[in-house]
Amino acid sequence: MTKPHRTTALADLLLAWYDRHHRDLPWRVSPPMAARGETPDPYRVWLSEVMLQQTTVQAVKSYFALFTSRWPTVTDLARADNEDVMKSWAGLGYYARARNLKKCAEAVAFGHGGVFPDTEEGLKALPGIGDYTAAAIAAIAFNRHSAVLDGNVERVISRLHAIETPLPAAKPEMRALVAAMTPQDRPGDFAQGMMDLGATICTPRRPACALCPFNAQCRVLGQDDPELYPRKAAKKEKPVRLGAAFVAEDETGAIFLRKRVESGLLGGMTEVPGSQWTARIDGDTGTGAAPFAAAWQACGTVVHVFTHFELRLTVYRSKASRDAAAGEGWWQPRETLDGEALPTVMKKAIKQAIPDAFETARKA
Ligand code: ADE
Repeated sequence: MTKPHRTTALADLLLAWYDRHHRDLPWRVSPPMAARGETPDPYRVWLSEVMLQQTTVQAVKSYFALFTSRWPTVTDLARADNEDVMKSWAGLGYYARARNLKKCAEAVAFGHGGVFPDTEEGLKALPGIGDYTAAAIAAIAFNRHSAVLDGNVERVISRLHAIETPLPAAKPEMRALVAAMTPQDRPGDFAQGMMDLGATICTPRRPACALCPFNAQCRVLGQDDPELYPRKAAKKEKPVRLGAAFVAEDETGAIFLRKRVESGLLGGMTEVPGSQWTARIDGDTGTGAAPFAAAWQACGTVVHVFTHFELRLTVYRSKASRDAAAGEGWWQPRETLDGEALPTVMKKAIKQAIPDAFETARKA
């Protein structure tokens, strides 16, 4: 049995590193800001954590700026129009997050007087806030002693302790180790420091171990390849689904769109008409599901990877006149296409049919 690490010493090393090397992020009260008396705004912490679920810091920045300028407080967001929120979220993915975001804002604004609960338990009772997000908000916004474990922290901890149990089975063990390491003083900075260390030094490939504050304590360094940690259970190959998408353009360049049903994948978002996405390799990739009769021309395939499957869409395009269009939907003028709640897969399909569709939108 190896001796356990002295956890207070580890926390001190990490906090000293964070004081010097923290990232300046738009939602963060960094140590110099805290020294000037600034305190975290729970609304901004919550918003950033929801956006950062399954999404990179880089991708989140512009969305965070847009949301906080349009809706500076949780009450503003609660009063916003659902459609506007979905449109502003378009492109960030995992759209159930946006629906829960709105519901959570309403619960805080109208059920809690606009004030976020300040405990993990209280936070977890709100829509869209699970174990990770509750712990992160409690630590970062309220300086609670919560163990925060995200993908970056899992990597740091698995290497520091050479954890052989593969993910996801290793999570409880990892959470206990993070809890033991988290200091009573500055738990929020500790959580953010661990995330920054994982994002900038203890990276998945080619970690910069020479610069790591834990390099004298790291169990993996020197005896194995850090890149082999965290150990992961073999991934199952993603199933493939097939479908067809139909991009119709009228005489003015407007594009025929419709709204997806509220429930399920991409629920409530905007789409170009298409077939069901079938798991069968001989699925419907023909023009049988076209929304109306037109001279549909196949113009290639787009591939989009969702969490549980890979989608291959055969894209068709056609010029059509407004009178031809039947069924649910509307003609969206090209200039305002970019403001629509179009998920990335739908933007890909439109670009496949009309490569400059979104450039025309921006220029107009
Ligand atoms: N990833 C998720 N939450 C984060 C945070 N608060 N800071 C940096 N990266 C993060």
